[in-house]
Amino acid sequence: MALLKIARMGHPVLATPAKRVSNPTSRTVARLVEDMIETMKDAGGVGLAAPQVHVPRRVVVIRISAARLAGEDGRGDDMDEGDDTVSEEVSTVLVNPTVEPLSAAQEEGWEACLSLPGMAGLVPRFTAIRVGYQTLDGRDVSFEAAGFYARVIQHECDHLDGILYPQRMTDLRRFGFAEEIQRAREAEALAEAADD
Ligand code: NI
Repeated sequence: MALLKIARMGHPVLATPAKRVSNPTSRTVARLVEDMIETMKDAGGVGLAAPQVHVPRRVVVIRISAARLAGEDGRGDDMDEGDDTVSEEVSTVLVNPTVEPLSAAQEEGWEACLSLPGMAGLVPRFTAIRVGYQTLDGRDVSFEAAGFYARVIQHECDHLDGILYPQRMTDLRRFGFAEEIQRAREAEALAEAADD
């Protein structure tokens, strides 16, 4: 296994649509996925797409189990819940994924990306989606996802089409350094508490 170098916004590999994987069961794909998972964990990301490690193929890894992605394990959509429990969770690998919204409903949420270190933005995403993909043993699988998990999948699958989250934003005033945004949100929360 090896840690891979992560491409940052501005590198052409992040703006280029990735190619389909012709054989998901190949040793090359298995090795790529192992390295991507190690790289994602090391960098503290929730997900990683192959173009982010300079490989223009349609492969995504996500640090949440498929059951949780599908909302089948009974846990909520609380984003803060994610990191503490990651160590016991199985990563989900999506080869040649497709995303289909289940309705036109969208919601806004804060996103960050390993290819835009230190930045964050408020991004609208479909609230519920159906995801189709191939597994590493070549099966075709699909599941439904909602909320934060649907957001993560849409963010990662956008990488496969050469799209970064700022391109999905509708108000670039809500884009900036994560540290500043966090500080502003805390100040806002304090001001609201003082008003009560
Ligand atoms: Ni990203």
